[in-house]
Amino acid sequence: MKYSTKDIEDIIYSYLPVEEGYAKPVIEAMNYAFRAGGKRLRPMMMKLCFDMFSEEDDGVVGAFMAAIEMIHTYSLIHDDLPALDNDELRRGLPTVHVKYGEDIAILAGDGLLNYAFQTAAATFKLAPFDEKIGKAMYILTAKPGIDGMIGGQTLDVVMCGKELDDNQLDYIYKNKTSALIECAMTIGATLGGADEATIAKIEEVAYAVGMAFQVQDDILDIIGDQDKLGKPVLSDEKNDKYTYVTIHGMEEAKNYVNIMSDKAYNILKGLTVKNQRAKEALMNLIVELINRDR
Ligand code: IPE
Ligand code: IPE
Ligand code: MG
Ligand code: MG
Ligand code: MG
Repeated sequence: MKYSTKDIEDIIYSYLPVEEGYAKPVIEAMNYAFRAGGKRLRPMMMKLCFDMFSEEDDGVVGAFMAAIEMIHTYSLIHDDLPALDNDELRRGLPTVHVKYGEDIAILAGDGLLNYAFQTAAATFKLAPFDEKIGKAMYILTAKPGIDGMIGGQTLDVVMCGKELDDNQLDYIYKNKTSALIECAMTIGATLGGADEATIAKIEEVAYAVGMAFQVQDDILDIIGDQDKLGKPVLSDEKNDKYTYVTIHGMEEAKNYVNIMSDKAYNILKGLTVKNQRAKEALMNLIVELINRDR
């Protein structure tokens, strides 16, 4: 039941646009960013959440897996732009604005966001009467938006150089990072046919995973290895960002990663699912992420 990065890529690569026509320069940049090495955690978590509740896969979830990775990839392209974090390395390769220029990088981000919705909405043709697709579509449009990822990125950039209080720190992390993980996992559970109360529990799991994930990202920004991470270290310091680590210290940050991961693990453990093996794989993934070095 465990999926490798390659297993996930075999599914999501099949949804990429063909590089042809006058729009080719932007499509090339979209595919460049998408195909560069990422961990593919969001589609992996989506698929495991789907598998926990459904044994049959009609292909709908695959399109949503590609869509969440497209949205995540767009968020990275824009996050790296000179106007935001101004980073030159991503997933082990030059960032899109370094390779293709800032104009194409902005458009490639826009292109991926839109193509995500196009890819997911196309599943209505596969299963026109499946109301789960409508619910999943709503989640896919809402969580990355102003009440989610974009909201978090907004406070993150406007607070550059300013000390954050606990509420602001919490808002930034919940939105810029947990929101996409909540998006991935609740879509998986929704398409798998989980009931509303169970989906709410999955959302709590995803929130905790996301918070731990971002604090671990901040830790790695300080003590990580650029070659392993595939992105620059000390980006937060360069941008004068207050993070969980600068505010609470390294030891407390490591402790927080453990606490939030435990919390996610235990909520998941208590959940009744159809497929126990998928649940175990997801629990193992949460544990693996605690000590990740990339
Ligand atoms: C990076 O996400 C952005 C954050 C939310 C910290 P990932 O660490 O999942 O990046 P990839 O997809 O593996 O490149
Ligand atoms: C970004 O957080 C989260 C996004 C929504 C892209 P970071 O700015 O810390 O992510 P990295 O470290 O550049 O991957
Ligand atoms: Mg950033
Ligand atoms: Mg960044
Ligand atoms: Mg970071």
